[in-house]
Order: sequence, then C-alpha cells, then structure tokens
Amino acid sequence: MTDPAAPAEEAMTVAAAVAGTATTMEAAAANPLRDPRDKRLPRVAGPCVMVLFGVTGDLAKRKLLPAIYDLGNRGLLPPGFSLVGFARRDWQDQDFAQLTHDAVKAHARTPFREEVWKQILEGIHFVPGEFSDDGAFDALAMALAEIDETRGTGGNYAFYLSVPPKFFPVVVEQLKRTGLADAPPGSWRRVVIEKPFGHDLQSAHALNEITTSAFPESSIFRIDHYLGKETVQNIMALRFANNLYEPIWNRGYVDHVQITMAEDIGIGGRAGYYDGIGAARDVIQNHLLQLLALVAMEDPTSFDASALRREKEKVLKAVRLPSNLALYTARGQYAAGWQGGEKVVGYLQEEGIPPTSTTETYAAVKLEIANRRWAGVPFYLRTGKRLGRRVTEVAVVFQRAPHLPFSKDDTEILGQNALVVRVQPDEGITVRFGSKVPGTAMEVRDVSMDFAYGESFLESSPEAYERLLLDVMIGDPPLFPHQREVELSWKILDPIEEFWATQGQPEPYEAGSWGPESADAMMARDGRVWRRL
Ligand code: BG6
Repeated sequence: MTDPAAPAEEAMTVAAAVAGTATTMEAAAANPLRDPRDKRLPRVAGPCVMVLFGVTGDLAKRKLLPAIYDLGNRGLLPPGFSLVGFARRDWQDQDFAQLTHDAVKAHARTPFREEVWKQILEGIHFVPGEFSDDGAFDALAMALAEIDETRGTGGNYAFYLSVPPKFFPVVVEQLKRTGLADAPPGSWRRVVIEKPFGHDLQSAHALNEITTSAFPESSIFRIDHYLGKETVQNIMALRFANNLYEPIWNRGYVDHVQITMAEDIGIGGRAGYYDGIGAARDVIQNHLLQLLALVAMEDPTSFDASALRREKEKVLKAVRLPSNLALYTARGQYAAGWQGGEKVVGYLQEEGIPPTSTTETYAAVKLEIANRRWAGVPFYLRTGKRLGRRVTEVAVVFQRAPHLPFSKDDTEILGQNALVVRVQPDEGITVRFGSKVPGTAMEVRDVSMDFAYGESFLESSPEAYERLLLDVMIGDPPLFPHQREVELSWKILDPIEEFWATQGQPEPYEAGSWGPESADAMMARDGRVWRRL
C-alpha cells in the first residue's frame, strides 16, 4: 500500500512539534535531570495517544511502561499525552494505573517524581476486552475520540502490539474494521510490532501482508530494540564520524569479526514463547544480523531511514552462508549447572518445556560477506542463554603485523589488535594493542585503551525503549528495520534452520559455561578461538 497521507503526516508532525516546542522545551529546561550545559534541542513529539495491547505482559511491565515514565521525567512526553491500556481483564482505569505505577517504581531508569507521575496519571485509560470482541474495539474507538476531545490529542494514535504474534492478525483486523487504522487528514496512525516478525521467510511475508493491508509501510514501526541502544547507534558514530578507523575497516586489515550476545539468564517464564523458536530465531535473525549490518555496511548518504536501510539491505544481501553447515554452525542446549553460586536446572527441566524438545538455547554461525570490502573475512556470530555472564560485544579483530622485528620470545604472548564495541553491560569501546613491558628487554604484550560512557559523559544512557517510543511518536523511522531487512535476514537463517531440523538433539552444554564444544571446534577449524569474556 502506498501512503497517501505521508506528506500531510510529515507536515503535521512538524507543525505539532513546533506547537509543542515551547511547552516541552520549558519542561526540559526546568528538568533537574537535564545538564544545563546541554545545548541540544530536545526532539519532541506532537500530542498523541499510545495504545498498548498486552499491558500485563513482561515487556510492558519491565520495559514499555517504565520507558514512558522515563520520557516524561526527561520532559519528552508531548502535552496531552495519553496512555491507553487494552487487555482481557475486568479492570477500571485505576487498576491499569496501579499496574503502571508498580512497573515504574520497579523498573524505571530515572528517579520517581510525584509531579511526573501525576502528569502521566491524568492521561491513563483502560479498555477491557478480548482481541476478538468487536464491542471492545468499538469501545476503544469511542474512548480515543473522547480523549481527543478532552486532551487535544488530535486523532494521533500509536498502536503498540506487545502481544504474541498469533494475535497480530486479529488486532490489525480490528483496527482496520473500526477505522482506527485510517488517519483522518491532518492526523496520524502508526502501528508498532515487536519481534518475532514471523518464524521464517514465508510467515514473515504473510505477517507483512496482513499489516500492510491495514497500514501503509510508512506507518509500520518494527521494533528491534538493539537499534535503540546507545552503544549500537555508536557503531555508526564510530565509523562515520571519525577518519581513524575507515582506512583499516576492510579485508586488507581485518582478520575476522566476532559478534557475541551472551546471557546468563535461562528462559525464565518464557517457555511458551521460546520453545520451538530457539536462540537463532530469537536473537541472530534480528539483533545480531542488525549488528553485522551496522558494522559491515557502506556509509549511508545520510541518516534518514531510506538511506540507512538501503545500505543495511545491500550488506545483508551480500551475506553468504558457509558451504558446509555441519562444520560452520553450532547449536547447543543448556544442561543443569551452576550460575552465580546457585544450582540451576537444564532447559529440558524448565517448566513448560517438553522433555524431548530440540530447541537450541545456543547458536553460532560463520558468515561471509561477498563484496569488495569484506570478501574472505569471516563474521562469527554467537548467542546463548545460561552462559558464563551477560555480555554483548562486537569485536573487530585485526591481522597480525606482517613482520615483527623482535625476538620470538619477546612477542610470544602478543595477541592480535582488536577494536571491541562493548554494547553491554559495561558500555564503551576497547582498543587492544601490543605495548612494551617496562624493563630492560623488548618484551611486547597486549594492553587495552578504554573508553567508558560513564567516565566521558555525565548523563547515563537512556533505555533502548525510551528512544524507540519517542521515535514512534515523532514518526522518525531510521532505527526501525524495514520489511526488506526482515526478509533478507530470514533468507540467511532459513537454510540454517532447515539443516538443523534434520540434526536431532542440540549438543548439551553446562549452565554457566561458554557453550557447546562444537562451537569451539568450529573456530578451531579456522585456526581461531572465541574471545574469552
Ligand atoms: C530479546 C530476546 O529480544 O532480547 C530475549 O527475545 C533476550 O530472549 C533479550 O533475553 C535480551 O535483551 P537485552 O537488551 O537484555 O540484551
């Protein structure tokens, strides 16, 4: 579907932003969380309503509701902002307000301030109902019309589908039926969908057909929360705002790249979601391939959505799988073990997991990129649950110096130079290089040069969802993957999944370890090792 409303929508956003600027800027200026030396203009949204489907879910409680509060606390919620919860509960507004309050108290990043909470509370509403209940959606439409009247939200609605994917079609269908998906002139309607965007290429395509039957592509915001992380956006700053790295960011200097997302947690209460999905669909298809795209893409002509997405698409299109998937992919499933001093059960003993499940909780793959910059440089991606510790990083490992004019003994333990983007939890960048050990010999050993966010900046990094929710309200899409990226990522993953489906049980690894032996063997085959984290 094309978007006939796009220019009007853009004009509206700008107009609304200008209209909202004074108030929001004043709010921001009066905000104790704002550094007075900060001269940047805050990005502001015009008045709008955020409608949240799935308010009782984990994501809403841990991330979305706290992020809305944090935006409010930073003076970044528009005047009249209203929050509507929709769920299958026999609740009144105050019950939803209580849930939001508890979620904010438990998980917000910024301190609790009564005046901010009061502002949010004024705009809180709840609509009870089943997704299949026409009456409930009619009531939602009426509630929204009333909010427009009383709070001046101008028909601008963002619908956040924080619900299991099987409900996407029915909710989208209801939004279409009630006319809520159609923006009247001068207002906007946006839909936000959470991954997983399908289960494979075919289902991703089908899901998109349903979504685009109700909303134009420009109104669909697909959340990959990794793109909202400061450290992930910083990959672009590092590469494109500096001249230092670009000359060596290619096959002439880079030996290989390792992208790791390790988690120490198990699947917790998410058996229903996770089983049958597994680590590769849960994380590699989206977060890790997005990281790969940002590390490997050419510089976009600008950071507007179409320019950025075009470069990511080009590089995803150039990704090649190894010819032997048995040798260059690995999958594992955590067995019982020890984590943080506690005994933890294995995946097959987790509540709700069938004892014969073949779902992987660890996945590693070797990919290559068939273009001039990267030909022959392997990109190793790994992710897993119940690993030694929680850490996400991108390590660009450089080739050794072509010649070492030192005695062999002096450089015996010298490793390879590396530039490591520490995505989390210890946010920053490390450069590893060889340095002379003080003393009378010319011994050279690895040392690190560190940049840490906490030391260089006064403000702490916003949560990914703060940035992404704000972008939805502003209507700013660069940090949201396009359907083409989603489909290209499934094209990479589908053959791997098909191969794994013929392979029976994944290799067990002990909880608290660094994954299955086959993942180490995969690296050893190339004469390399995974970084020790
Ligand atoms: C989600 C996955 O997308 O990312 C989860 O579904 C995973 O399985 C989570 O735990 C990790 O996010 P973060 O931001 O803690 O790295």
